[in-house]
Amino acid sequence: MIKADIGSIGGHVRTCDVTTDVVCKLVAEAKESGLIIDYRVWNAGDDTEIFTTHTRGIDNEEIHKLAFDALKAGADNARERGLYGAGQDLLKDAFSGNVRGMGPGVAEMEFEERPADPVVVFTADKTAPGAFNYPICRIFADPFNTAGLVIDPKLHNGFIFDIYDIKGNQMVTLKTPEEYYDMLALIGSTENYVIKRVFSKNKQLGQAAAISTEKLYAVAGKYIGKDDPAAVVRAQSGFPATGEVLEGFALGHLVTGWMRGSHNGPLMPVPLRYSQCTRFDGPPRITGLAFSMKKGKLTEPIDVFDDPAWDITREQCMRVADYLRRHGPFEPHRLPPDAMEYTTLPNVLKKLKSRFKPL
Ligand code: F6R
Ligand code: MG
Ligand code: MG
Repeated sequence: MIKADIGSIGGHVRTCDVTTDVVCKLVAEAKESGLIIDYRVWNAGDDTEIFTTHTRGIDNEEIHKLAFDALKAGADNARERGLYGAGQDLLKDAFSGNVRGMGPGVAEMEFEERPADPVVVFTADKTAPGAFNYPICRIFADPFNTAGLVIDPKLHNGFIFDIYDIKGNQMVTLKTPEEYYDMLALIGSTENYVIKRVFSKNKQLGQAAAISTEKLYAVAGKYIGKDDPAAVVRAQSGFPATGEVLEGFALGHLVTGWMRGSHNGPLMPVPLRYSQCTRFDGPPRITGLAFSMKKGKLTEPIDVFDDPAWDITREQCMRVADYLRRHGPFEPHRLPPDAMEYTTLPNVLKKLKSRFKPL
């Protein structure tokens, strides 16, 4: 999965089908030429998402170049047609071997395909990579979420987590259940520590999840937009069931992002048709597509949050959103000062600096 905001209609609301078709065409050609096995291109709010299956492994130059070229062609089309924020996440013009560090978000994994390998691809808008900490932790480590951790011997041993310290530029690997509390001590700080990868303790099963962790401000040195992460999660037969995977999103938990990347708000699970951010540029939302695959060939997707079963979560999210909105510019709706450092706020505060006198 490689994704970027390359422009959208009517502000940072939703991508444009015409632009998405331009991206799609290049990816389709790569399927015809045999570079990739299969693909799907869609949008989460104002972000364009490219999901491909192939046998070239992670960090492959040709695959990254394909994604970069497709996103760039889409950005050019968006620019020609006056879409808003055209090319926003493509921070560099020339491709140099890997899209990592060039703006797009990346979530890749390599595994030996099982006879049937269900995979759920989550794409979020108006939020940050740390938004996945809570659901991924509940899915793979919390027995109150995932019944299989208690009653299925294939899951009972737990999982292994790679956690990135995104500000310290280092990582740590922790195992659950034995190091569960240590893991929570880190990942509760969602702006500092993010879960990057999850593995089964059963080596044969391999990797269970991959999450994009790219921080745009870290690449660009200033606020450009939120990082709007994506995650790929494998389900069933030794991994949590698809329903256990989705259950991780039932709270509508609070995440950072929303308007100007500067506010806390609930992460609302929605079907693709509702993936457009309108109220106060949000609220932050998550979409999910479930696929089955055989030898890398994908079935049609199931739009997993297109179910009245999620109505109660959505309603709760909007009640929370409405309540938070009434705080206006006050914390904890607005993010604390260290998180605001990368927004446009310091430019406003600069001019007050000389007015301060010692107490
Ligand atoms: C958040 C986001 C939007 C913009 C806001 C201001 O990730 O993309 O909330 O920050 O609409 O956008 P500009 O500065 O482009 O007018
Ligand atoms: Mg945008
Ligand atoms: Mg976005």
